[in-house]
Amino acid sequence: MTRINENYLKLKASYLFSDIAKRVSAFQEANPDKPIIKLGIGDVTEPLPQTCRDALHEAVDAMGTSKGFHGYGPEQGYDFLREAIAKNDFQARGADIDPSEIFVSDGAKCDSGNIQEIFAQDIKIAVPDPVYPVYVDTNVMAGRTGNNVNDRYEGFVYLESTPNNGYIPSVPDEKVDLIYLCFPNNPTGATANRDQLKAWVDYAKSCEAFILFDAAYVAFIRDESLPQTIYEIEGAKDVAIEFRSFSKNAGFTGTRCAYTVIPKGLMAKDSSGAGHSVHALWNRRHCTKFNGVSYPVQKAAEAVYSDAGKSEIKALTDFYLENAKIVRSAVEELGLSCVGGDNSPYIWVNAQRPSWDFFDTLLNEAGVVTTPGAGFGTCGEGHIRISAFNSRQNVEEAMQRIKNALTARA
Ligand code: MLT
Repeated sequence: MTRINENYLKLKASYLFSDIAKRVSAFQEANPDKPIIKLGIGDVTEPLPQTCRDALHEAVDAMGTSKGFHGYGPEQGYDFLREAIAKNDFQARGADIDPSEIFVSDGAKCDSGNIQEIFAQDIKIAVPDPVYPVYVDTNVMAGRTGNNVNDRYEGFVYLESTPNNGYIPSVPDEKVDLIYLCFPNNPTGATANRDQLKAWVDYAKSCEAFILFDAAYVAFIRDESLPQTIYEIEGAKDVAIEFRSFSKNAGFTGTRCAYTVIPKGLMAKDSSGAGHSVHALWNRRHCTKFNGVSYPVQKAAEAVYSDAGKSEIKALTDFYLENAKIVRSAVEELGLSCVGGDNSPYIWVNAQRPSWDFFDTLLNEAGVVTTPGAGFGTCGEGHIRISAFNSRQNVEEAMQRIKNALTARA
């Protein structure tokens, strides 16, 4: 009989959001008349911006003509999109990123999950706690950890985000090789300022480590003093890879487009100590395993950078941030503390009780789905994450239902 990759047996039985979906379905089956409002998984709800839709339509029409037809495109993405990204997301912020350093893809989840493939098996990896589960599970699948003991995998260095450090982890005391960071953070919504990011870049330089920087939620930053790409930080081009997405800014969760920046100067070594370009390795991997994002979707992504697109994206993210404000103020009215929601669509609530219990209370008594913090790691225990991705009416109603349920209990 064919043998399996036994590293998969170390994983928790299912992905966090599948676990939640199962509990929600069970509740719905038992209570068919109780309408549920979902503020759990961070999936957008508002329609695609008009500018993106127009670009999509136009590209689809072009594909119906001999002249405008596009077959396989460049695996790294079309130049029109890579140039728009480099100019608007990086050069406009003083970050010297060249279009050729950008790899267009179908998701930041896939890229942040797959990037580990190009690194050695026995490297030391630091992951935040709480954490976006993809960073952890993909390394477990690849065999870079031991077993899960008390909800932590042997072999990882965990970077704790707690109320004591304002949910921003400090650099570890020991040397690591790869560091996953995400700001604005998923799940906590916390943001790192320039000094905090600089400390990470300096640390990475000092131990010749790489930072894998997930900036999928950057479009929600409103505080202009906060960095909007890690490459605004001096020295970051020598140590950092950045992941971005069109999912949360332009509502592309169902349309699929993202990108990864790998500076050409990033070098990693083989077992003999010889240096190799990380950009070249990822390019090799990307061309082997990926055939590019479709032409119409890349045209829709390019439209995000037009003047009309920029103002639609701003309005869309403002809309979710207003939802986040409603969530925050309801949480505070209930006497609970929280972070996030000001430069992020996620609100991280210190529930002061076991997080799956609180999740169940909110589901069963208010009909509201959230995400239990413990599902993101041991430091998430005692917290829940509330997502601001929903209609205004649903967010208002959900928070009213939560207030009613919790005050009735008090
Ligand atoms: C989340 O809820 O954490 C997000 O949906 C994750 C993702 O974008 O994959």
